[in-house]
Amino acid sequence: MTDPLNQALIGRTEVNDLDAILAVTNTDIDSAVHAVTDNADAIFTWDYEKGARPALNKLYEKAKTAQWNAETDLPWDTDVDLEQMARLLLPSLGIESSDLSGTPLATWGDAEWLELGIESQVWTLSQFMHGEQGALLCTAKIVETVPWIDAKYYAATQVMDEARHVEVFAKYLDTKLEGHYPINAHLGLLLDDIVADSRWDMTYLGMQIMVEGLALAAFGFMHMLTEEPLLKQLLRYVMADEARHVAFGVLSLKEYYAELTDRELAERQEFAFEAAVRMRDRFLQQEVWDRLGVDPKIAIPLTQASPMRIEFQKMLFTKIVPNCKKLGLLDANNSWLRRRFEELGVIQFEDWADTEAEYEAFSLAGTT
Ligand SMILES: [Fe+2]
Ligand SMILES: [Fe+2]
Repeated sequence: MTDPLNQALIGRTEVNDLDAILAVTNTDIDSAVHAVTDNADAIFTWDYEKGARPALNKLYEKAKTAQWNAETDLPWDTDVDLEQMARLLLPSLGIESSDLSGTPLATWGDAEWLELGIESQVWTLSQFMHGEQGALLCTAKIVETVPWIDAKYYAATQVMDEARHVEVFAKYLDTKLEGHYPINAHLGLLLDDIVADSRWDMTYLGMQIMVEGLALAAFGFMHMLTEEPLLKQLLRYVMADEARHVAFGVLSLKEYYAELTDRELAERQEFAFEAAVRMRDRFLQQEVWDRLGVDPKIAIPLTQASPMRIEFQKMLFTKIVPNCKKLGLLDANNSWLRRRFEELGVIQFEDWADTEAEYEAFSLAGTT
């Protein structure tokens, strides 16, 4: 797909241009902080009527009773078997089933494959951690910018949830694995765009609908894949919160988007497309290959030759596509976003369950 609009939205005309994707790298890996200008006004409301939006109020009440303690509710004394963890993860990369002849991987032995599995696990959890910090900042921003008191209340509970999520991923990486990866450049660009946007609903669209929609699917996939008991439980706890967060986005934007003009909806459609592409790009794990000394331009096409890997990457959109449909974003403006999702190969999820009420099913009540 070649489209001049793509240049403005994602910095390249061809969505699948691997050279252009890999040219975007994080060159700021030594700084301890990263500043983004937050262009929004902080909004006071003098309308304190609690429950004026009953669905948001219900979600807020649910969130109050669903808080957990990252230090005391998870079995941090679990001995983590790194090797077993890495071996279970490897098939999901899709690369072992590719034809490796003539590539640097053709001579790899067990030690190299194991290292790939461990690095990939560390990379994945590092990006989860950075994404969680993005959610922490975005949700604090929503507390300031959303004009509705029920939404400010709910967002305040989400700030606490996200603090806990950053905490658990950082603790897991620091105490059970070895080190962190810096933030992936594609994820970083997306988080910067979300934080910098002056319109309050764009924070929701970028974070609650796109980033958290993808996270819910990605956490679910890793939860299914891993047999490491601490990580499994950690992910299960985080997913219970994330399902509420995505529901918060759907409930809030459904009301707001019903009143927008086609032109305003077009800007939201373009933002959703940009976010979808950036998240897809980040899943190529280019930094893992750099660290292993393998040219990503050789390794990544090997992973992308695997039908299973392609399928996995599409499955990451199982929450995003139905939620965009529910918000009216797929079919506004002559189905602009529908066509983009068709080109990304993810439109088939449009009638899967949306997340407006799905959070009940993710609740921790009755789980172990
Ligand atoms: Fe989170
Ligand atoms: Fe979240």
